Amino acid sequence: QTDIPRIRDVVTEFPVGAAITAAETLGVHGELLARHFTSVTPGNALKWDATEPAENSFSYAQADPLIAYAKANDLAVRGHTLVWHNQTPAWVFTDAAGAPMTATAENRALLLARLENHIRNVAAHYGDDIATWDVVNEVIDESQPDGMRRSTWYAVTRLDYIRTAFTVAREVAPHAKLIINDYNTNVPAKRDALFNLVAKLRAEGIPIDGVGHQVHINIGWPTVAETEAMLQKFVPLGVTQQITEMDVSIYRDNSESFPAPPADRLLAQAYVYRDMLALFRRHAGEITSVTLWGLADDNTWLDTFPVTRKDAPLLFDTMLQAKPAYWGVVDPS
Ligand code: XIL
Repeated sequence: QTDIPRIRDVVTEFPVGAAITAAETLGVHGELLARHFTSVTPGNALKWDATEPAENSFSYAQADPLIAYAKANDLAVRGHTLVWHNQTPAWVFTDAAGAPMTATAENRALLLARLENHIRNVAAHYGDDIATWDVVNEVIDESQPDGMRRSTWYAVTRLDYIRTAFTVAREVAPHAKLIINDYNTNVPAKRDALFNLVAKLRAEGIPIDGVGHQVHINIGWPTVAETEAMLQKFVPLGVTQQITEMDVSIYRDNSESFPAPPADRLLAQAYVYRDMLALFRRHAGEITSVTLWGLADDNTWLDTFPVTRKDAPLLFDTMLQAKPAYWGVVDPS
C-alpha cells in the first residue's frame, strides 16, 4: 500500500519507531519500515547475549547490518539495552571459581568491572550512530520494600550497577540520551518507585536523562487518564520521557485465545491507538520519541508471551496491510 498516508508525515511531534530484527530491514518489510517510521530499535541484536556472548569477546554481527540500514535510510536508532537481568549470558553472573555469584566484595568488583567493560565496548563501537540508549532495563519491583528488583545485579552491587552503567555510558557516549526503561509504569506503585529511584540518583549527579515507558498494554487497560498520570508524575523531575515498546494486545487476559483477530477487537484497538497517540502528541513537550514493539503482526513477541496464542498488537497485519489501528493513528477523527 503506497497510496495511504505515511505515519511519519502525520505524527511529526517526535520520532516514531519500530522494534525490528535485521530481516525486517529487507524486502517489503524494509520498504514498509522506511515508508512510515523515523526511528528503529533493534529488538534483540544489542542485548548482552548478542553483543558479548563470551567474556570480552564482542560480536556486532546481528546489530551492524541493522544499524547500517538505519543510517542509510535516515532513521534514528534507540540502543536497547546495556543492562538487564534477562538475555544476559550466565558467565556474567559467575564468580572467579565458576560458581554463581554471591554478595561479596570481590564479586562486586568483578561484576562492576564486567559491566564497565561491556558498556565501554558496545557504546564506543556505535558512537553517535546511537542517539539514545536504554541504559538499564526493568530494575524496579514495586513489591519489594525498597522498590528494587532482586536480580543478581542488585544482590551483588545494590544500586551501584545503575550508578556505574549511567556514569560509564555518559563518558563513552557523551551525546547520547541516557534512559532508564521499565514496564507497567502506569501502575501507581511502580511509577512511584521508579520516580523515587530517578530522583535519588539524579540528586547524586548520576546522568539519567530520561524515563522510558514500555507501554505494553491491551485493549482494556490502562485508561488514558492513568497513562496521563504516568506522564505527569515525571514532569517535576525535568527528565525527558519516551514511549519505548508500545503494543496493544487484543486480549484482555491470559485465558482468551482467538484463531484470528475478531473485528470488534481490532476496532477497540484502533480507539486505544487513537487515544494514546493523541495523549502523547498533547505531551510532545515531554515526550521525545514513541516506538512500537514491532513492525507488523507477522512478528510479535506477544505470540509467545505471556502464553502462546496468535496476537495482533501492531498497526499492520500479518500481510503487512494497514489495520484499523493504523487509521486510528493517522486519521484520529
Ligand atoms: C523481547 C523480544 O521482543 C523477544 O524477541 C525476546 O524473545 C524477549 O524479549 N521488554 C523488553 C524487551 O524490554 O527487551 C522485550 O523484548 C520485551 C519486553
